[in-house]
Amino acid sequence: MQTDIEALRVQMREDLKKVNSADTLRAFWQEYLGKSGKIPAMMKDLRNVAPEERPTMGKVINELKNHIQEAYKEAESRVKQIELSSQNEAETVDITMPAKIRQTGSLHPITIVRNQIIDVFAGMGFEIYEGPEIEDDTHCFTRLNVPKDHPARDMQDTFYLTDELLLRTQTSAGQIRVMDAEKPPIKVLVPGRVFRSDSDATHSPMFHQMEGLVVDKGITLCDLQGMLDELCRNLFGSEVRTRLRPSYFPFTEPSVEVDVSCFECGGKGCGLCKHTGWIEILGGGVVNRKVLENCGIDPDVYSGIAFGIGIERIAMLKYGINNIGLFFQNNIRFLEQFRA
Ligand code: DAH
Repeated sequence: MQTDIEALRVQMREDLKKVNSADTLRAFWQEYLGKSGKIPAMMKDLRNVAPEERPTMGKVINELKNHIQEAYKEAESRVKQIELSSQNEAETVDITMPAKIRQTGSLHPITIVRNQIIDVFAGMGFEIYEGPEIEDDTHCFTRLNVPKDHPARDMQDTFYLTDELLLRTQTSAGQIRVMDAEKPPIKVLVPGRVFRSDSDATHSPMFHQMEGLVVDKGITLCDLQGMLDELCRNLFGSEVRTRLRPSYFPFTEPSVEVDVSCFECGGKGCGLCKHTGWIEILGGGVVNRKVLENCGIDPDVYSGIAFGIGIERIAMLKYGINNIGLFFQNNIRFLEQFRA
């Protein structure tokens, strides 16, 4: 039996060397220490040993068992290390690998231009007000100095819902709502959708406007031009200039049409500016005294300026788009060109 024990010790050392994974470790345990392993078998064999030799042999087997248990523990921590490092290897991230390009969305060009305009005016201390799209006749027309029989109503083909309710044709309606709610000084922008029964390459039944209103003491047309200079330089480049041309709107007196010097040809004359050197971009003026009075603001104390920007028009000029319908067809190939 003594020789068996020695042989087992040698064999165990050999087997131990082969342990390199959780599976071989388990097999090693079963082979030597498990219920039907070699050590329990030897213990059982003690029965066949002469009684006087049993204590010594028992001791020797026990020592071997302890020895194997120690060896097992060492092997166990070695296997843990091996498994950990192979797991680390498997999970290694190669940071030099090219990343997967994911499709991302982008802002709609109308939103981009709208945000840009808001940014310019927010920098000058303007607040944002958004009025309702379904308006009543008084806010959209009457109190803006456009009475029911006024010929200026013909300028805007209105979608009427009832005799009194309509889809707002202009964000100017927001002026009245703001002046009803606030006392001067007032400095607001009213962005929003507007609706007119009108459709061709440059007109759409639904489009976007941005109204501006400033009411305070001593506000003049110069304030309007100064602010619009700032806007145009931001939208079209630092070298552009603006000019005001006389015009007519019922809610402003005097009224102006604002032109920007052509950013395409620098004012020399080209196809974009129809060889005039100037491009019309928006309407505005000094708020009509009657409109201030309609909102309970004393026109002898306060004055105001107002303007209305067509966002599609600005976006079409800025990006060289010649058909307004493109904004609303949601063709991805068109829209993805505006990805920032
Ligand atoms: N509401 C006008 C339009 O839709 C644009 C406009 C012109 C707004 C002059 C104004 C203004 O506030 O003063 O055509």
